[in-house]
Parts: sequence; structure tokens; C-alpha cells
Amino acid sequence: MLDKINKIKEEAGRFKVATQAELEEFRLKFLSKKGYLNGLFDEFKTIAGEQKREAGQKLNELKNLLTDTFEHYREAMNNEKATVQDNDLTRPGESIPIGSRHPISITRNEICDIFARLGFTIAEGPEIEDDWHVFSALNFPKDHPARDMQDTFFITKDPDIVLRTHTSSVQVRVMETTQPPIRMIMPGRVFRNEAVSARAHCIFHQVEGLYVGENVSFADLKQTLLYFTKEMFGEDTQIRLRPSFFPFTEPSAEMDVSCTCGGKGCNLCKGTGWLEIMGCGMVDPNVLDNCGIDSHKYSGFAFGMGIERIAFLKYQIKDIRMYFENDVRFLKQFAAAGF
Ligand code: PHE
Repeated sequence: MLDKINKIKEEAGRFKVATQAELEEFRLKFLSKKGYLNGLFDEFKTIAGEQKREAGQKLNELKNLLTDTFEHYREAMNNEKATVQDNDLTRPGESIPIGSRHPISITRNEICDIFARLGFTIAEGPEIEDDWHVFSALNFPKDHPARDMQDTFFITKDPDIVLRTHTSSVQVRVMETTQPPIRMIMPGRVFRNEAVSARAHCIFHQVEGLYVGENVSFADLKQTLLYFTKEMFGEDTQIRLRPSFFPFTEPSAEMDVSCTCGGKGCNLCKGTGWLEIMGCGMVDPNVLDNCGIDSHKYSGFAFGMGIERIAFLKYQIKDIRMYFENDVRFLKQFAAAGF
């Protein structure tokens, strides 16, 4: 019996366990029901009294040795599995979903970029404004319909506090604090109390521009807008200026760009061949004086456009509400569109 125990000990010592299959082989050979250890325990029952003590002791030692060896190999194998997994440099990385810029941001950045090339810098101002900056300084008579509740959001009981209806308020802020030459554009969010439809929203975005200096003329305005249009919509695009009215510009005009259909009668331009994209004009001398700029010495031009409308034309978007619904199927189409 003792001989057998020693032999099994030696055999277990020689047994190489490097794989899961070998580990299982070890278990079957030494520890399973039909394995060596169980065989010895069966034999142990037949041993005579005086030898039992020593054999029992040795047998227990063997049992401990075999189970310890088995556990040792099993643990080593598990650890190995874990480290191999953790350090497997060939495993593919986890993909990080990348978002895309909003079409309004893309269009705003593009507009700003074009004017930056002409030397315009960016000015920003508050969305909650006072009557002076949105209306009074801009030559709006007290009873002008644009001040009506229909257009303007009042957010407190104080009728002096409004959500700006255009970013011309930033032009006033710039002129109050800067002497000419001024060459700035004002991108920003504006608010008008309008019924929401496919074409109109109560929140939208504008880029307005202001150029004040000595001898600034309407021809400068026209050339600036022509350059912008060609950069934005392509070299072949034409512009057309129609007389209009704004309290803060004199003379005033609306600017149209030629439609890609060439006037052959498409839905977008309703067969006219022209699409209106912005208001513009020469800054009214009253506005310059209101802001502390000498209107005898300086003149200037201003313009303003809705970013939603420019993006409509650029990307053939049909409904303004799509900009604000945050539907990823809409948004991800712009992933390759720009910066
Ligand atoms: N502020 C005008 C608007 O919101 C746009 C405009 C700006 C017109 C500058 C003329 C000159 O409609």
C-alpha cells in the first residue's frame, strides 16, 4: 500500500498539465470515482489494524497533495485565460460613435468664414434685450407694428425687456462701444411670436452684418453681397436688389439670388427664377447718431439673413421644424457636409 502511494505520488509529480484537456486527464486519473485515489481508499478498508494508522496518514497526505496540485493547475489556467484576454492586442477596438454638426451650425460657420475672408469679425450679444437695443436705437417709431405683441416675446411684466427679434441689437451694442471703422457680423438666435409652420418658427437664427467707415457706399454693399453669394451658392449665382423698407436703413433693399432652375418654373422659386434671402441697406444716419457715431463723417451698410433659409436653399430642406426635432436620421445626413 505504502509502495503504491509513493508510486502515485511520483507519477503525479511527473504529470504535465498545460492545457484544459490535460487538467481533465489529471482529474480522471487521480481524483475521479474510478481514479487512483478512490482505488486506494477501497483498498484501505481491507488493511489490517496495526498498519491502518500509518497507511491512513499517508493516504490523507496523498489526497491533499493531489487535490492541491489539481487546484493549483486549475487556478493557474484561469489566470492565464484572464491575462491573455486582457492583453490581447489583436482584439478589435470598441467603436466610438461620432456625431455630426447640425446643419444650422454648418451653415453659420460657412457664412462667418466667407465674411471673415473680407475682414469681418464676429460680435455676439444677449438674447434677452431691452427695448432700446432692439427697437428704439434702430429708429423704430413707438407705434411700429413690429413692437406689437404679435411679433415680440415679452418675458416679464416689464415691457422694456424682450427676447431679441433680430441680431441688429448687437449692431447697436457694437456701435455704442466702437468707433469706425467697423466691420462685423452678428450670428445668433432670435425669437418672434409667430405660428409654427413648415416655413416659420418662433425661434430661428440670423447672421447680420455691419460695415461703417468713411465714404462707404451702396456699391460697397452690393459688391460685398455679390461676393458672399458667389462663395455660398456658386460662381454662376446672380443677385437682384429690390427696394424695400426697414426703419434702420435708408435706402433699404431685399436681396434675391437666382434659382438653380433658371426661372423655368420650379416649386422653390415658384417659377420666378429668384429666391429672397436677405434684407439690407445703408445705415440710417439717425441710427449712427443714436449710437454715438458722427453721421456727417461716417456712413455704413447693414444686412441680415436667416440661417435656416440659407440652409433650406443649400441643402433643399423642406420644413423648418426638422431643424429642431433632433431626429438623428435627419442630422446624420450632414456628417460629411462641413465643419
Ligand atoms: N434686422 C432685419 C430683420 O431681422 C434684417 C436687416 C438687417 C435688414 C440689416 C436690413 C439691414 O429682418
